[in-house]
Amino acid sequence: MVAGARRLLDRMPTRVRVTLAFMAVTALLLAGAGMLLYVRLGTTLEATVDRGLRSRAGDVTALIKQADSGLAQGGSPLTEQGESLAQVVDVHGRVVDALPALRAHPLLSAREIRAAATRTILVEHDRSAVDVDRVRLLATPVQAQDQRLIVVVGASLEPVEEAQAQLGRLLLIGGPGVLLIASLAGYGAAAGALRPVEQMRRRAREIQASRPGRRLPVPASNDEVARLGETLNEMLDRLEEAFAHERRFVADASHELRTPLSILKGELELALRDATARAEMREAVISAAEEADRLVALAEDLLIIARSDQGRLPVRPDVVDAGDALEAARRRFAARAAERGVALEVHAPEHERLVADPLRLDQALDNMVDNALRHGSGRIVLVIEAPGDHVEVHVRDDGPGFPDGFIAGAFDRFTRGDAARGRGGAGLGLAIVDAIARGHGGRAHARNRPEGGADVWIELPRAPAATPPAAAPA
Ligand SMILES: Nc1ncnc2c1ncn2[C@@H]1O[C@H](COP(=O)(O)OP(=O)(O)O)[C@@H](O)[C@H]1O
Ligand SMILES: [Mg+2]
Repeated sequence: MVAGARRLLDRMPTRVRVTLAFMAVTALLLAGAGMLLYVRLGTTLEATVDRGLRSRAGDVTALIKQADSGLAQGGSPLTEQGESLAQVVDVHGRVVDALPALRAHPLLSAREIRAAATRTILVEHDRSAVDVDRVRLLATPVQAQDQRLIVVVGASLEPVEEAQAQLGRLLLIGGPGVLLIASLAGYGAAAGALRPVEQMRRRAREIQASRPGRRLPVPASNDEVARLGETLNEMLDRLEEAFAHERRFVADASHELRTPLSILKGELELALRDATARAEMREAVISAAEEADRLVALAEDLLIIARSDQGRLPVRPDVVDAGDALEAARRRFAARAAERGVALEVHAPEHERLVADPLRLDQALDNMVDNALRHGSGRIVLVIEAPGDHVEVHVRDDGPGFPDGFIAGAFDRFTRGDAARGRGGAGLGLAIVDAIARGHGGRAHARNRPEGGADVWIELPRAPAATPPAAAPA
């Protein structure tokens, strides 16, 4: 039952829910205020009636005390005064004096008369002797004409009841009216507050990736709705940026794949030609296989770039001896360097250890040395420097260095210097070096050395010093 009501409430539109809550509170307030007013009016009017009764009782008492002749014999002071409800009785309940309509019976009961003989009492009768519904009576003892008498005065409560009934009618008609107006105002306010949300929703439905640049309308107010709109728009900015980035990547990647693929196709067509001699055919197939190797390498590079786009490139760090890593790289490139007549040297202090994924470190070194061989010239030096809590792995050459203004974007993907075009690379080498450095929490840097030539390096975390075997605690 309660759960059902909850579910119903949860399904209601927010503005209806707000309005209902508003209505309930307003109804409670109105009912409470009305009730208070109703009761207050009754007690105030009754207090006024009581004050009137007291003053009339005083008047009658004074009259009785003045009358020198006995009440029974002489003219009644009450008739002369024209009081509406007044009686004088003795302590036995006999009516001594009264208005003409009240001469027959005492207004008070025997018990009340006994009580009134000693002190002033106030009582209320539902049905009085006269033709009045509810009546309030005040009885007070008086010593006059040598006997103990009781003065009784009364007043109808009809005006009080009439006033209360009128107020009640007013509240019954006015209350729901006020409630209705308040509820309408509440509904209007809630609907107004939610309108910007509806506007944002409509715009959001129209937003498409194919038509970028559209944003949600943000209301001028400084509130949750406006902040929600701003936050969603910022999210759209980021998504659009990421989307554009992705699109550029796919376009660039397709472009890079096209050249080796068409070369591959050309080689294969050549091999298939009828007139091709067996030796030429073999040549073409070897060349096709080389092109396929290049494609595989390119695909692997693209994979690394795509992975680093999804956050940090995943690495499996290990402790690596820096000098050993450089020496291994030198050996890998020794043949190519010799072919080009370039000296390849390693300058590394002993026992310098760093934390890196060995395969990724080799890959970064390969890309840097490959660049030095491809774009540089003269001597190539692999250097370890350890200026702080990190280790720098440098590759320096004596070539022409980076073109002017190129360094800032050198690590972006698919960028290559004009002179480098047509020399094979896809412009992914340095982007991968940077991705690897970042994957280890470091950075990649490049500069042109003042003495000429390029210097490219990555920062990697230094391995904590090997702890000597722990001495036994004293
Ligand atoms: N050692 C270097 N000396 C001069 N220019 C370099 C050097 N290394 C890289 N570059 C420049 O940076 C560009 C980007 O390098 P890279 O990302 O490895 O792409 P790629 O080698 O495929 O051209 C190269 O095209 C080249 O212009
Ligand atoms: Mg390269």
